[in-house]
Formats: sequence, C-alpha cells, structure tokens
Amino acid sequence: MTAYTAPPQSKVIWLTGLSGAGKSTIAQGLERALKSQNIPVSVLDGDVLRASLNKDLGFIKEDRIENIRRAAVMAKSLVDSGSIVIVALISPYAEGRLKARELFQEGEFLEVFINTPLEVCIQRDPKGLYTKALKGEVKNFTGIDAPYEAPLNPELSLDTQKYSVSELIEFITRRLKLIAN
Ligand code: ADX
Repeated sequence: MTAYTAPPQSKVIWLTGLSGAGKSTIAQGLERALKSQNIPVSVLDGDVLRASLNKDLGFIKEDRIENIRRAAVMAKSLVDSGSIVIVALISPYAEGRLKARELFQEGEFLEVFINTPLEVCIQRDPKGLYTKALKGEVKNFTGIDAPYEAPLNPELSLDTQKYSVSELIEFITRRLKLIAN
C-alpha cells in the first residue's frame, strides 16, 4: 500500500511576529486572495483560538508552546485534507515553531516572519495592550517583559514598513507559489 500524501498544493503558511505586527490582517487578505482563486483555505488565528479551543491557556512559556502545538495539530489535519492553512500566532519561541514544523513533510511548512519592529507595534498599539504592558498592568507581554525569538531561517521575511498589505500578499502568493499563473 502506498503511503497517503496530501495533495501538492496543501501546506501551512505559518505567520509569526509580534502582537500588532499585522499577522491577522495579512492572514485575512491572503485568505481572500486564495478563495477568489477557488483554492481551499483555512485560517487559524491566535485571538480566535484563544477565545475557543485554547481558552484554558495563558501566556507563560509552557502555555504558549501548548497553544502552538494545538494549532499545529489542527493545521496538520487541515493540510492533510487538502487545504492551505494560514496560521497567525505570535509563536515567540523557536522551540515551539520547530516542533510545529516537525509535524509536517518537507516543503509543507512555510514560516513567514512578519517583521515589524517593536517600536512600530508599540506606536500602533491596536488593542491598547502595549500601553497596559508598559504600565505593568498586563504581565508577560511579548516584546515588553516576555521574549520574542525572531526566526533565523524563515522561508520568507516580510518588511511590513516598506510595502502595503496588498503588495505583501502578492509577494507571499508569488514567492511561495500559492497561485498558479
Ligand atoms: S502566542 O504567543 O501563544 O503565540 P497568540 O498569538 O496566541 O500568542 O495570542 C496573542 C494575542 O493575545 C495578542 O495579539 C494579544 O491580543 C493577546 N495577548 C494577551 N495577553 C498577551 C501577552 N501577555 N502577550 C502577548 N499577547 C497577549
């Protein structure tokens, strides 16, 4: 019996970066772009997962690693059923991202670093959480009093200050060959 392999187009696009870096916005734009080409796509977003499946988890290292593990397990199952899966999680620890990668076949896990400097995220502060973290009202906040280990070898690193969201999405689809021309 030949081993089952997922259809060639299915893979996970793993967006990692600071809170406020633009992961969710890029994930939603990418989802729209792929849907418009009738490509099966699912999004797993940190804020959504933390309000549902991962409601029991906090922000200490062990909880974040568990958050990533569960998202990776879900992503694996969706990839195996033929979907492109976009994961948008801070996923601050290299160890957590590596464990996620290990669940996938070669070429199925594409790590995309949403590279927005901390100062810019603090300035944007879309949820007001950086303000609270800087006052000590929110603890273990990534970039303030919890680490973010930037990927050393991502498949793609995106400078979000140089390009618009639509340019970034086009760049991702082209560089990762998500849409056939
Ligand atoms: S991760 O580190 O475990 O990957 P995840 O992406 O799920 O994080 O959730 C991040 C979101 O949770 C942030 O965008 C922010 O809205 C919220 N949040 C609440 N507390 C924290 C915190 N201490 N550190 C980072 N994000 C937090």
